[in-house]
Amino acid sequence: MSVAVVLVAAGSGERLGHGVPKALVDLGGRTILDRAITAFLGQSAVTELVVVAPPAAADSIASTLRSGCPLPAVVVPGGLTRSDSVRRGLAALSDAVEFVLIHDAARPLVPASVVAEVIATLRSGSDAVIPVLPVVDTVKRVAGQQVTETVDRTELRRVQTPQGFRVDVLRAAYAAAPELVATDDAGVAEAHGVQVCTVAGDEAAFKITTAYDLRLAELLVSAG
Ligand code: C5P
Repeated sequence: MSVAVVLVAAGSGERLGHGVPKALVDLGGRTILDRAITAFLGQSAVTELVVVAPPAAADSIASTLRSGCPLPAVVVPGGLTRSDSVRRGLAALSDAVEFVLIHDAARPLVPASVVAEVIATLRSGSDAVIPVLPVVDTVKRVAGQQVTETVDRTELRRVQTPQGFRVDVLRAAYAAAPELVATDDAGVAEAHGVQVCTVAGDEAAFKITTAYDLRLAELLVSAG
């Protein structure tokens, strides 16, 4: 089994307000990107890494990886949307690879157990696998300030990354929807009729979006 990891790290991080791309923000002495890469290094099935980088930082990230990454690694500049960045990452994979994990670099604390579970589910024959968590808050639909509906939360899930796919399946799904801008890759696969199965996510795999999230990540890192 050969698994590639595409780390999408080209977001601007505007909502974090640090003045540098989010992937390069410090998290307890290492960048968010560096910590996200580390989450995949213990998996023997993972054979290559593609980092989709903020264009202005691609060269410096490539030289850092050349000196310190134990996996074959390629750095490509990202696009304007996450979907464009994923397309660029998929285009950079080697021909040898059978499966791909697409991961938000903004989820640097994803536990190795979640990565392993996604890989194991691909190994057992699934074309597409996503980690999910239940929705614990009540969810309402609103129009402006007005509540229009209380949604049944029992069937709803919060979706995380890494999302795992057979490479040919995900490539075909993206090729079939060249203009689609989706917030996750499973959404692109679903639009192409692919069956997506779920595994248990983990609260630690939360996405760092706001200053509050970064503070929480710092506390978790410092607590070990
Ligand atoms: O902005 P959002 O929360 O959707 O970002 C999720 C992930 O996608 C982040 O890791 C971010 O760096 C990445 N991204 C990207 N290229 C973009 C936008 C987001 O690689 N144009």
